[in-house]
Amino acid sequence: MTTIKNTNKSSIILATEALEEGNLVSFPTETVYGLGGDATNNLAIAKIFETKNRPEFNPLIIHFASFDQIEENCEINDDIKKLNDLFWPGPMTIILKKKKESKISDLASANLDTIGVRIPNNITALKLIKSFGKPIAAPSANTSSSLSPTEANHVYEYFENDKNLSIILDGGSTQIGLESTIINLDNDKIEILRHGGVSAEELKEKFPQKIINIEQKANEIIIAPGMLSKHYSPAVPLRINAKKAEKNELLIGFGPNYNAPNLSFEGSLVEAASNLFSFLAKYQKKHSKIAIAPIPNKGIGRAINDRIKRATSKN
Ligand code: TXA
Ligand code: MG
Repeated sequence: MTTIKNTNKSSIILATEALEEGNLVSFPTETVYGLGGDATNNLAIAKIFETKNRPEFNPLIIHFASFDQIEENCEINDDIKKLNDLFWPGPMTIILKKKKESKISDLASANLDTIGVRIPNNITALKLIKSFGKPIAAPSANTSSSLSPTEANHVYEYFENDKNLSIILDGGSTQIGLESTIINLDNDKIEILRHGGVSAEELKEKFPQKIINIEQKANEIIIAPGMLSKHYSPAVPLRINAKKAEKNELLIGFGPNYNAPNLSFEGSLVEAASNLFSFLAKYQKKHSKIAIAPIPNKGIGRAINDRIKRATSKN
């Protein structure tokens, strides 16, 4: 069950506790309301995908309270510092290279070596991230393919009976009402991947020589890195819907009828999603072939199967 709470000290504490327990919290940003979870906790991230009912693991935007906190997790250069001075806190997301030592969940970044980061310009969001002490992963708080929410009530209508989401922090109507601008730094150039709260004109004014192929890239959002199959291919052959291991093959099970390694002995799809990338990373180092037991194609299981199929498509 979900409740809407006015933002104050006690609701921020409750929301912080929910995040610490690995549950979800909805909070306002200056763009749209987010559906937030601990960015370092794979299980919390799996709950976000389950709640949104997304059929694939798109990478999520990670929300930070300060630039220092971003520097702990990402590689930084002078352009990024300048973008920070100009536009953060604000409606801009930058795709940055993740540092090796970063604890950001592999599921949150859909197993890419980059993360989309931003510092939101909203007092409730900033208080929550500071109180929690860790970054918060949050897509827009709507079910897949419906409108992004700009009021606490919208979030409530989508998720009133959701078991993962206990609190919606009410911060009134969001000021901007459309999502952040997403940019990618490619060598010396700045590519706009999604238009949003920071306009292309503002970016061009501050970086006259660097903004490239804006219109073209804006259309390419449909092939954002999260959707490219090659990013997900493991280094070894992968076989799906396998009930038994073949010769020289490791079988990764799912559910009580399979031995270890097992994505979830109790057959929890959320747990399986949270283990998927780390299992593949770990076992491809030790085994020349991997098979995966059948995963039910419902709920977040669709996203798991989508990802496994992409991983096999190259082989
Ligand atoms: O204003 C916003 O950006 C809102 C608020 C809540 O912050 N968030 C939002 O998130 O719109 P979402 O999940 O609805 O959209 C995130 C987009 C996706 O299209 C995803 O592909 C892209 O960001 N993205 C995130 N991380 C990425 C990465 N590492 N590489 C490429 N694209 C990435
Ligand atoms: Mg969205």
